Amino acid sequence: MTQDEAKLLAARAALELLPKAGVIGLGSGSTAKLFIDGVGELVKKGRTLVGVATSEASRVQATELGIPLLPDEGPWEIALTVDGADEVSERLDLIKGGGGCHAREKIVNYASKQNVIIVDESKLSVKLGEKWPVPVEVLGFGHESTVRALSGFGKVVLRTRAHRPWMTDAGNYIYDVHLGPIDDPAEVDRRLRSVVGVVETGLFVGRADRVIVAGPNGVRELGLPR
Ligand code: A5P
Repeated sequence: MTQDEAKLLAARAALELLPKAGVIGLGSGSTAKLFIDGVGELVKKGRTLVGVATSEASRVQATELGIPLLPDEGPWEIALTVDGADEVSERLDLIKGGGGCHAREKIVNYASKQNVIIVDESKLSVKLGEKWPVPVEVLGFGHESTVRALSGFGKVVLRTRAHRPWMTDAGNYIYDVHLGPIDDPAEVDRRLRSVVGVVETGLFVGRADRVIVAGPNGVRELGLPR
């Protein structure tokens, strides 16, 4: 089974969890994109689902598929959000933001009654940080000063594309902070967010209600270790 086939399996499994009607959060990234394709099919068949988009890419996709969307301003009453992740720990904490959308994703996550994460098995780790740095969205103004403060945490790398800083939907920078395996993600998240100029981190601690994983043996739901 390819990674893309596993992502599709996870996305399809999440479709089964959707309410018959109501407001749902639409995640970002390649796995969430497959989920949104499925939502589009349901809406075409008459399901009255309304989305909240976590990125401009998801908004464009949803609009093209005819999925009605709520405005960005909120407040929203979101029944369930389905999103991907870059890394999922044994404790079901997450690193997100490989696509730079984690600030919006976190706002939608917190506005959602239930959060379902869909991943393929390559995303699983014992501790967060084993595979990925922590993406941190940083305001452009004074960002070199913000980075000076962030460099106390570990190696900090400006995310670029075609030799230019990669910009988020909100026009901010992303710095990837290399921390290695993280023992206490809640504490690291709190300390990173206390740096002035940091908009949001990609650490999602205790924010996944359900994690659906797909791999060669099919689809399963992760539980917390005993
Ligand atoms: C977007 O910024 C991210 O948080 C994505 O949800 C995450 O990177 C997972 O993306 P893939 O499904 O493409 O791996």
